[in-house]
Amino acid sequence: MKFSQTLNLNLPTILIFDSGVGGLSIYRKVKKLLPNLNYIYAFDNAAFPYGKKSSEFIINRIVQYINQIEKKHKLSLVIIACNTASTVSLPILRNNFQYPIIGVVPAIKTARKLTRNGIIGLLATEATINGNYIKELIKKFAIDCKVIKIASPELVELAEQKFYGQVILKKELIRIVKPLLKLKESPDTIVLGCTHFPLLLTEFKKIFLDNINFVDSGFAIAKRVVHLINNDKNFFITKNKSIAYCTKIDIKTKKFITIMKNEGFNKLEKITN
Ligand code: DGL
Repeated sequence: MKFSQTLNLNLPTILIFDSGVGGLSIYRKVKKLLPNLNYIYAFDNAAFPYGKKSSEFIINRIVQYINQIEKKHKLSLVIIACNTASTVSLPILRNNFQYPIIGVVPAIKTARKLTRNGIIGLLATEATINGNYIKELIKKFAIDCKVIKIASPELVELAEQKFYGQVILKKELIRIVKPLLKLKESPDTIVLGCTHFPLLLTEFKKIFLDNINFVDSGFAIAKRVVHLINNDKNFFITKNKSIAYCTKIDIKTKKFITIMKNEGFNKLEKITN
């Protein structure tokens, strides 16, 4: 059954999780392909950012968060729309929960396919850059490439600021990505290895050369979700309505609904984690 083509009000419910608003870059791609599902966007703004936290901390937070959401909603599928969290938590989450858990990891494999000069830039959080997962990913898919890594908590902050309406100064971005700009031979492909970074794509395009490829995992994740939704007949389907959850209410979260109501979220509630 193609859920995107049905008028049945009982629909699968997809939970999309991130530390902040970065997961919306994934939500937008999934929603484009599957506009009619129930979506729960859950973010852990009380513990944001995750980029400097330990693996244990992140895993515990997510397990508890999903447990809380499960008390309110029957879930069909979960997307951990955060590279930092996915690179440390997927095996444990898959052991803990019975529905499919999709993770988002830096698109190194795609970058390897696209690069012509074998130089790849990788922008991600400190936890992602320093973790074993990324080392293995590079070893497996891009061992013959030069991968220049930049770990930047500031970029994560800038993406949040842009989402909540602030103008991002070009010189700020240039300062952060300078190691990529001043190389003798520049990367021709840049991996946006944090789900926050596609929110800054317009700004990135203004500071890098026109022919640079920017890659993120959004479309691949969306296609994977379509595949699972259309092929698994055993999903719970319910009459849930789309809703967002956070772990702290503040001035920013008050703006969240104003920004997201045209994109399907009319309600944001606090969850105690
Ligand atoms: N959006 C997250 C990611 O993809 C991390 C942001 C944070 O540091 O919390 O890595």
